[in-house]
Amino acid sequence: MATFGERILDRAFGHPQGRLGRLGGAMMARANAATERRMVELAGISDGDIVLAIGCGPGVGVEYAARVAGMVIAVDPSETMLAACRRRCENLYDRGAVRLSRGTAQDTRQPDASADIVMTVNNVQFWPDWRAGFNELHRVTRPGGSLLISSHEKWLPGGLTALAAAVKRAGFDDIRTWTWEPPGRGATTAVQLHARQ
Ligand SMILES: C[S@@+](CC[C@H](N)C(=O)[O-])C[C@H]1O[C@@H](n2cnc3c(N)ncnc32)[C@H](O)[C@@H]1O
Repeated sequence: MATFGERILDRAFGHPQGRLGRLGGAMMARANAATERRMVELAGISDGDIVLAIGCGPGVGVEYAARVAGMVIAVDPSETMLAACRRRCENLYDRGAVRLSRGTAQDTRQPDASADIVMTVNNVQFWPDWRAGFNELHRVTRPGGSLLISSHEKWLPGGLTALAAAVKRAGFDDIRTWTWEPPGRGATTAVQLHARQ
């Protein structure tokens, strides 16, 4: 049974809802911006690419990716975060460069092999089932397409070894992992992974 404190944190960051969720979203937009941007840079997005941003939260990475991609599809189970993402990306959304989809890693609601690049930042720790999540991401990534993951090391159960094993089990290949220190006081070590479908 979750404690009161754990339920508050979950409502703010894990499954953002209502006022707490909006506050959590504003905090994440600042604290995680450097990581979201780094993952977009590492993804090497080209202008025709379709990018799937899983667990997009307030949409910092979505906005950054949409400046270079053909289209970014932002997937998140939280209506509060999808609304925040839409506000951040208003112009990009209006001209069709960003689409929003209420879904999860386990059920993205996207067609087979439809994404060139799938990115997920700071949310694998909230997935209820890694096997279902990575199988789904494998299904929606086109052959040869990329999967990029970043997660706070301190909240990743089993660390990079478990993460890489789960990604491999789903059928991804050419898996590389590393750690990264985000800039800024109070930022904590990130574990990151790149793999190919
Ligand atoms: C800590 S926030 C991270 C948001 C953003 N990527 C960032 O780094 O600032 C976690 C996000 O994951 C989403 N989330 C929770 N469960 C999820 C799941 N099963 N699949 C995909 N996203 C999920 C939440 O709604 C929330 O927006």
